[in-house]
Amino acid sequence: MVANWKLYNVTLEESKREAGDIARAAEGADCEVVICPPAPLLIPVKQAIEGSSVKLGAQGMFWEEKGGFTSQISPLILKDLGCDYVIIGHSETRGRFGVGSVKEELLPYFSETDETVNLKTLAALRAGLKPIICVGETIGERRAGKQDEIVSYQVEMALAKVEDINGVVIAYEPVWAIGTGEFCDPEEANRIITLIRSKVREIFGAKAEGIRILYGGSVEPSNIANFMKKENIDGALVGRASAKAETFAKIIHYKEP
Ligand code: PGA
Repeated sequence: MVANWKLYNVTLEESKREAGDIARAAEGADCEVVICPPAPLLIPVKQAIEGSSVKLGAQGMFWEEKGGFTSQISPLILKDLGCDYVIIGHSETRGRFGVGSVKEELLPYFSETDETVNLKTLAALRAGLKPIICVGETIGERRAGKQDEIVSYQVEMALAKVEDINGVVIAYEPVWAIGTGEFCDPEEANRIITLIRSKVREIFGAKAEGIRILYGGSVEPSNIANFMKKENIDGALVGRASAKAETFAKIIHYKEP
């Protein structure tokens, strides 16, 4: 269960408190729990989860390790700070928002492409980080019936030149379901995730069985069990409902209905 905090917890105080509470809530959980705070909060969150089973993840990074790259975050920094995971290719960094809260003319500033997603995936693996690669179609692409094609293409592009699939996590996040409250039908999410696994199997053979594929998009305590009971859904990437420990704890400890 991955908590993608986005920009929901923004102060030191709330980040430390919520991370500490999540660490306590994760005790005895039947799943691996990861918190991905905004980059400047990685260290305090790391301190707050110290000694617990919770892992640290970053929300993004650059593909170069060092050099004249103002404002970028190196994979080496993330590794050194104690990150195990890094989210790559989130739709909000690809400039594909579920809700239109960002002005059209500003979208080019969120400029991740399939090519940079691939560069970052390769860089993460080189640095010993586990990439959580996000893929998913927009509402327009789904209305045009292109979701299978788009998702397969994004997976194939992200994994180009990857030699060892070990440690790679893929998250299916339909853009229209992110932050909108309109979650994907679990049956449909399972169908797409099955398709993703067969795509990975096509490229990496039997090793594809070992990788984890998550669903993300308006996951909440009330719907998590319906996703988790689907055979091919291994976990969830949770945004809004992960920021407060009280809510995220209910997701971590979901019960079969
Ligand atoms: P959400 O976000 O749970 O707020 O829909 C999920 C994500 O974008 O990772």
